[in-house]
Amino acid sequence: MSQPVKLMGMVDPHVHLRDMEWAHKATFASETAAALAGGYWAVFDMPNTPPNTFTRAALDQKLATFQAGAVCDWGVYFGASRQGNWAEYPQVMADTCGLKMYNNPTTGNLFITDPSIREQHYQAWHGVIAVHAEEDVIPTVLELVRKYRRWTHFCHISSAAEMAYLIEAKREGLPISIGVTPHHLYLSQDDLPQLGSRGLMKPELKTPADCRALWQAVSDGWVDVIESDHAPHTLTEKMSDRPPYGVPGLETTLPLMGLALHEGRISLVQVVALLTTGSQRIFKITPPPDTYTLVDFDDSYIIESQNLRTACGWSPFEDWRVYGRVLEVWIRGQKVFDGERVLVSNGFGQRVICG
Ligand code: NCD
Ligand code: ZN
Repeated sequence: MSQPVKLMGMVDPHVHLRDMEWAHKATFASETAAALAGGYWAVFDMPNTPPNTFTRAALDQKLATFQAGAVCDWGVYFGASRQGNWAEYPQVMADTCGLKMYNNPTTGNLFITDPSIREQHYQAWHGVIAVHAEEDVIPTVLELVRKYRRWTHFCHISSAAEMAYLIEAKREGLPISIGVTPHHLYLSQDDLPQLGSRGLMKPELKTPADCRALWQAVSDGWVDVIESDHAPHTLTEKMSDRPPYGVPGLETTLPLMGLALHEGRISLVQVVALLTTGSQRIFKITPPPDTYTLVDFDDSYIIESQNLRTACGWSPFEDWRVYGRVLEVWIRGQKVFDGERVLVSNGFGQRVICG
């Protein structure tokens, strides 16, 4: 067998885990187990799964539910509300990994269009701000970055035009980072006839030319993080007349990056940055001692839904041949995953303290 690679503290800074009001889809226990199987040390959870994390009370409920259920380490975002919930910020900032602001339509109708409301959120929040901003909304958010200098992470960039705006902003020296998902890299509108509603997510799949532009930006080093945007929905829901947006990704992100490595699209040094140090730098976090993942990037296998741990039990990458088997995951000196089984009980995971 080839030499395993040691990845120090893999982080996925963009997941939508389910529990509480959406426990029929999945739980923090099931999805953090999927995270371990995907090689992750820690995942950062978005605020838009009900009950939405827009108030202190909802945050407390989520923190307690994570504390009881999670098997990997975790962080949670606070959500910027349409009405303006900045009065809460001083009391919640220390317990979160960042603020999430939606500026385009997504699940749950949480997006903000009023420029003065956006601006007040920017004024009030002092940590990392993760934004959902598509196409021509990006320059308006960049105006706020220019004015307030808050570190802004642009989530799931999915088109050539969006990437061009952000490369320009990086050249200007603005404090921003860029996240891209594996599905926007590997899948396009051309796959929709075959994928059906399993290819529906926000932002939506774009053209093959957009995919090429995203790969170019990854290989040129403009992209900071590959984030899964893991958003599991049951297959029954996805097959219904009104399918919800979202696809799972925690268990396929690492081996899809392994595939990119195998195909010569990116180097191992880039894989490491995209899955570990990129997020660590943005969120100012240090993995605990003896926290790492052993991966065999030469081992290839086929993605099969029956082998997935996510409660939704399907993947848009089903039947794909990928590279990179997770051999072991260690957290705080404890082996937590042995390649087949999760070895710790619910509640082992701890909250990640961001700097
Ligand atoms: C997300 C989900 O289902 O939680 N879906 C998605 O397509 N990314 C929510 C969202 O739209 O952000
Ligand atoms: Zn998302």
